[in-house]
Amino acid sequence: MQLDTLKRAKDFSSIGYKVFHSEEIYDRERSHIFSGNLWNYVCLDVELAEPGSFITTYIGDIPVLVNRTMDGQLKAFENRCQHRGTKLRREARGKETTHTCVYHQWCYNLDGGLVGIPFARGKDGKGGLPPEFDRSSIKLREMKLATIHGVVFGSFGDDPPKLEDYLGPRVVELIGNLFYKPVKVLGYQRQRILGNWKLYNENVRDTNHGGLLHMFHATFGLARLSQEGGARLDGATRGHNTSYTTYGTDNESQRKDGYSQTKKVMQETFKLADPSILHFERELPGEESLVILSTFPNGVFQQISNSLCTRQIRPRGVDEMELYWTYYGFVDDTPEMAEHRRNQANLVGPGGLVSMEDGEAVQLVHEETKASPEAASRIIIGGLGEIKDSESLVTEMPLRGFWATYFKAMDL
Ligand code: FES
Ligand SMILES: [Fe+2]
Repeated sequence: MQLDTLKRAKDFSSIGYKVFHSEEIYDRERSHIFSGNLWNYVCLDVELAEPGSFITTYIGDIPVLVNRTMDGQLKAFENRCQHRGTKLRREARGKETTHTCVYHQWCYNLDGGLVGIPFARGKDGKGGLPPEFDRSSIKLREMKLATIHGVVFGSFGDDPPKLEDYLGPRVVELIGNLFYKPVKVLGYQRQRILGNWKLYNENVRDTNHGGLLHMFHATFGLARLSQEGGARLDGATRGHNTSYTTYGTDNESQRKDGYSQTKKVMQETFKLADPSILHFERELPGEESLVILSTFPNGVFQQISNSLCTRQIRPRGVDEMELYWTYYGFVDDTPEMAEHRRNQANLVGPGGLVSMEDGEAVQLVHEETKASPEAASRIIIGGLGEIKDSESLVTEMPLRGFWATYFKAMDL
């Protein structure tokens, strides 16, 4: 297969399904995207509170180890021993002064330098490392890090742009709103989705599906296409997207107008015995009750009412991905607000009332496009041509921004 035969419309309003199923493309994503000159979402600064704190994560499918050095700096490395390639740290998080590989016990300091090798000189002058071996030349492969409002991004590229320039001023401002005071992590969830990672990037930018796929959203009003809202597109080729809407901004006739076309999505007669999960207490500097910011290629930052979390997209081969959810609140939350956030954590995640269907939708597309790699999608809702902001939720414009950015990064 020739990569340059990938079928797509000039304005990215149609993408050939081959892009979701090709091993050759997946290999190129490793070098051009996940090791390219761009910035990936890594973690929150607060997850590494003390010297010696570490977490493990993935950028693409490259294993990554992030730690705080004894003098307080954050550093990140490929989580792979330089001896024979073993995963160095296997825990999700912890606190240590060194990292020792389980296989032959090579030991690294928090700056990624190799500091210990058992039996380096062998036994009684026999065996061991060759005399020309220079221990100081061995280092873990380092990833550059940059932090905005406590959100940590990383790049394996040699020459990434400044993070602020990569994200653009509106994204930087929004991250400032979502993390406007000291945060604390409330918990994590992980979700395996049997579909290509780019299908999830489409899904999360697809404001049009929010009030159509998700019955809970539409029925109880957390996100309806009849509400005020839209999408803001940022970055040089519009690869970052902010979808937003505000609870309670539609009326009965607007709802009926759109939803009368479909019988199953919005059920006016359905009621919740306990509606506390819908409660929205205004708290952040922005006006909206729902904000989903997606940063190219792997970050999602979410406010749904008072449920705050980040999502990290982790490809696991062509056919599979993991979604890693980090839920947070603020250090000064009242006990009632902390409880409310825990309650609203049920909205999202693998079994979430407004997100469980996303994994299923990704899988339905992935499975059924496998057999037809020459066919292509239609990304036409919201208009063709120039890729720009939308003042309506009935749009797929952000998907075209994703694809414009993707093909540029892939140099295809
Ligand atoms: S592979 Fe890590 S010490 Fe041998
Ligand atoms: Fe969704």
